[in-house]
Amino acid sequence: MRTRVGIVGAGPAGLVLSHLLAERGVDSVVVETRSRAAIEQTIRAGVLEQGTVELLTAMGVGARASAEGARHEGIELRFGGRGHRIDFTGLTGRAVWLYPQHEVLKDLIAARLAGGADLRFGASDVALRGVTSDEPVISFTDADGTPVELRCDVIAGCDGSSGISRRAIPDDVRTDYFRAYPFGWFGILAEAPPSSKELIYAHSERGFALISTRTPQVQRMYFQCDPGERADDWSDDRIWAELNARVAGDGFSLAEGRIFDRGVIPMRSYVCEPMRHGRLFLAGDAAHVVPPTGAKGLNLAVADVVVLARALEEHFATGSTEPLDAYGPTAARRVWRAQHFSWWMTSMLHTDPAGSPFDLKRQLGELELVTSSTAAATHLAEAYTGWPMG
Ligand code: FAD
Ligand code: DHB
Repeated sequence: MRTRVGIVGAGPAGLVLSHLLAERGVDSVVVETRSRAAIEQTIRAGVLEQGTVELLTAMGVGARASAEGARHEGIELRFGGRGHRIDFTGLTGRAVWLYPQHEVLKDLIAARLAGGADLRFGASDVALRGVTSDEPVISFTDADGTPVELRCDVIAGCDGSSGISRRAIPDDVRTDYFRAYPFGWFGILAEAPPSSKELIYAHSERGFALISTRTPQVQRMYFQCDPGERADDWSDDRIWAELNARVAGDGFSLAEGRIFDRGVIPMRSYVCEPMRHGRLFLAGDAAHVVPPTGAKGLNLAVADVVVLARALEEHFATGSTEPLDAYGPTAARRVWRAQHFSWWMTSMLHTDPAGSPFDLKRQLGELELVTSSTAAATHLAEAYTGWPMG
């Protein structure tokens, strides 16, 4: 079997890339280990930058995100027992959308299949060969047990943080930039009405908490926890008490309800460079991971493949290798900005278990600055709503 672009992974990076290539008349095959049902049910990110929604809309898959998602024109930074609004739209003219990642994936998969795309869900034994040759190969076993050799012009490694693509870049070529944080996020979904019109990012002496939303009936909330915490060890009452303690002040309290999903997410920062080796191009979490505090993970994956699709289109149209050479350095510029923003939001809002009273006071000084200086608030608002797509 042959295709121009073999895409490993049907997450946001792989599916958006497959769309953008199809729009440009470039054929691709997507190889994915999980089932379609599993992908469409996995709870992950929730915030779409304005540029991501605009891109989905331009691709013809943004209708549900616009209609069923919620436009948010600001967030609240809560500290010292009080809320302080960052007015994104007032400061930048831009906004974000709350629309869950698995709904984005449903929209992308339905549209790709309607367009006749070749998406191989449930593949196993996926392996890459000859990535520095002119005809790299993805070998895999199809869902029905048939062995497949997919010969490609290029391979896009979009297989997330624990995929195989990154490992096809030899150790002596690859640099792994890594930072682990001494905390994780305890995330819940609850049947409850919203407690706030906008997302709340709360700093407290007990640690960080994030009050987000999914629908008028379902709320998403997180609180900083030990990375080794076991979600099942917590009763609902204890979870609500902890969340309430972290957002307390000026009479505010959370609307509570039945908790029907819970889990602990690790927090890490990671970048693999180069993002390209021979004819293998990494995009999204396969190349980099950010801590979720800046809501950048999904958006960064989309931004990578916008750059990659353009580079591939130009390469196939002209035969020039220049656009391919430019992909990694161009994508990495945004990646490192997003790394900085995600690290900054994380360090400003979380309690370091090994920190001192000085650290706590310094954070409050920083939060005071960000919520009172127009320049500092604009910096946050520009980053959160998303820098222009490359
Ligand atoms: P992924 O979405 O990971 O997609 C990769 C795909 O590749 C997957 O479908 C996987 O099954 C497939 N795959 C893996 N290995 C192979 C293989 N060998 N062969 C073929 N296919 C393979 N970001 C936020 O901003 N906020 C959040 O709250 C948030 N929560 C998260 C919670 C969890 C549990 C995780 C894991 C991530 C979370 N993220 C969050 C990050 C965000 O979801 C990711 O940044 C985003 O999914 C990246 O998209 P991607 O397409 O690069 O990778
Ligand atoms: C959500 C996740 C985030 O990481 C974030 O910064 C904001 C919201 C969410 O899942 O709703």
